[in-house]
Amino acid sequence: MTFTPAKWPRKLRSQEWFGGTGRDQIYHRGWMKNQGFTHDMFDGRPVIGILNTWSELTPCNAHLRDLAERVKNGVYEAGGFPVEVPVMSASESTFRPTAMMFRNLAALAVEETIRGQPMDGCVLLVGCDKTTPSLLMGAASTDLPSIVVTGGPMLNGYFRGERVGSGTHLWKFSEAVKAGEMSTEDFLEAEASMSRSAGSCNTMGTASTMASMAEALGMALSGNAAIPAVDSRRRVMAQMSGRRIVQMVKDDLKPSDVMTKQAFENAIRTNGAIGGSTNAVIHLLAMAGRVGVDLTLDDWDRCGRDVATIVNLMPSGKYLMEEFFYAGGLPVVLKHLGEAGLLHKDALTVSGETMWDQVKDVVNHNDDVIRPVEKALTAQGGIAVLRGNLAPKGAVIKPSAASAHLLQHRGRAVVFEDIDDYKAKINDDALDIDETCVMVLKNCGPKGYPGMAEVGNMGLPPKILKKGITDMVRISDARMSGTAYGTVVLHTSPEAADGGPLAVVRNGDFIELDVGARTIHLDISDEELAARLKDWTPNIEKQASGYAWLHQTHTRGADTGADLDFLVGCRGAPVGRDSH
Ligand code: FES
Repeated sequence: MTFTPAKWPRKLRSQEWFGGTGRDQIYHRGWMKNQGFTHDMFDGRPVIGILNTWSELTPCNAHLRDLAERVKNGVYEAGGFPVEVPVMSASESTFRPTAMMFRNLAALAVEETIRGQPMDGCVLLVGCDKTTPSLLMGAASTDLPSIVVTGGPMLNGYFRGERVGSGTHLWKFSEAVKAGEMSTEDFLEAEASMSRSAGSCNTMGTASTMASMAEALGMALSGNAAIPAVDSRRRVMAQMSGRRIVQMVKDDLKPSDVMTKQAFENAIRTNGAIGGSTNAVIHLLAMAGRVGVDLTLDDWDRCGRDVATIVNLMPSGKYLMEEFFYAGGLPVVLKHLGEAGLLHKDALTVSGETMWDQVKDVVNHNDDVIRPVEKALTAQGGIAVLRGNLAPKGAVIKPSAASAHLLQHRGRAVVFEDIDDYKAKINDDALDIDETCVMVLKNCGPKGYPGMAEVGNMGLPPKILKKGITDMVRISDARMSGTAYGTVVLHTSPEAADGGPLAVVRNGDFIELDVGARTIHLDISDEELAARLKDWTPNIEKQASGYAWLHQTHTRGADTGADLDFLVGCRGAPVGRDSH
């Protein structure tokens, strides 16, 4: 990838606010000086916005103010002027109805925060699931030089000598309680062991996946993804990123220079190798839309199909992010992909070097954590994209988190019309269901929920869990937590609330899943399906006002990334108009 740095020095965007002796410039500078900034901070040096998703209600990002100070040090060292700016923080663990509904709102806010204010470059301080894609989307829309610094994962959890993975063990323990294998008292005791340090989920859940995606895209410095939140090297990474963004501004190295089609293909293959979250599918599609890269669900299947999952981390495997870091982290995985011919080696990164230059000399320090291909967790990792009369626009499944014996399965549908219907029926022993059935959940897509909640890995009925059965085929238009597992078909498109075929599945229908053949089929005739769809009427609650209305009215389908239709594309970062 050829990149020609811009000439330096030159007049930067921030000088429209701060440069000169006119009334307006004095107004902009003078008010800033009430914070004690010296006059030379406004002399034309790069102004770096440190966009911080710190919030005490986003516990995974609660340590980011400390990291922001480290970034500032780096920016000052490189001759820039850092300004810390809070941006919307959508926490996965607290935001209702689901953080995903606010990814696009946060991206919109970030975009306008950048566009309307005197910044020449941005450091994106992120961590919890949605914060990473939302800031990357906002930055991509403005195309101002930007670099990602994630907060890093929590340390390993341990309960009675065993590793406890964020989220993954929450689902496991909760099922064990339902099955009568774990007491509520033990569950409460385990709670205290789950989150024992600052940081994001310590599994290869969505936060770790998106940190890995940022690195694989080339938008973070090499090695960023896996450094634990409390490791001193996380602070060093923040400081180095602060130094680097100043040079990126001087060079005018923009997101569109880095986030190319090749970069997205590298990220998709990386997702397969790490056994990453299905949520990455939606986020990468949305991010690609912001930079004008033509990325589709078919690219996910094409690029991911032959990638073996070699990272032995929960939920697909055994270890946690701390061990991934000690083994060498994502650079080792990228080197493996390069050696296997599965990496665009010359893809540019924010370092100014190619991806291959960054990773070619790294060493794997633990080949049980990052395995050789011969000992891969699954030979065909990646995300499988399914199609058929039940999902004309596609659905996804993560084979590495599924049960091998269910990857080809035909079963009787047990239908839940929405999440409330599911909650009302699932614990009833009279529910007509056995382990060969296919659980179908409707109206949990981008419009239906609204926001597309992580409920696709719906828990099994207690009467089945008590038999020792831990997995069944489940199909929905919802998402699933990256920390979850099971034979779970997700993102079925078009969604039920939009009149997709999922809307007309009935109890007693038969459904055929064949992951190898990439098919999902509702076993009724074309005529019957057409007749049912003709009679279908929406039965979701229509949002009357506010952001929920905006989201429900304008969200695109999961198959294209569920971005708001009017936010797709890059609008650049023109200088804000002066109102004074
Ligand atoms: Fe925040 Fe998992 S809940 S990273």
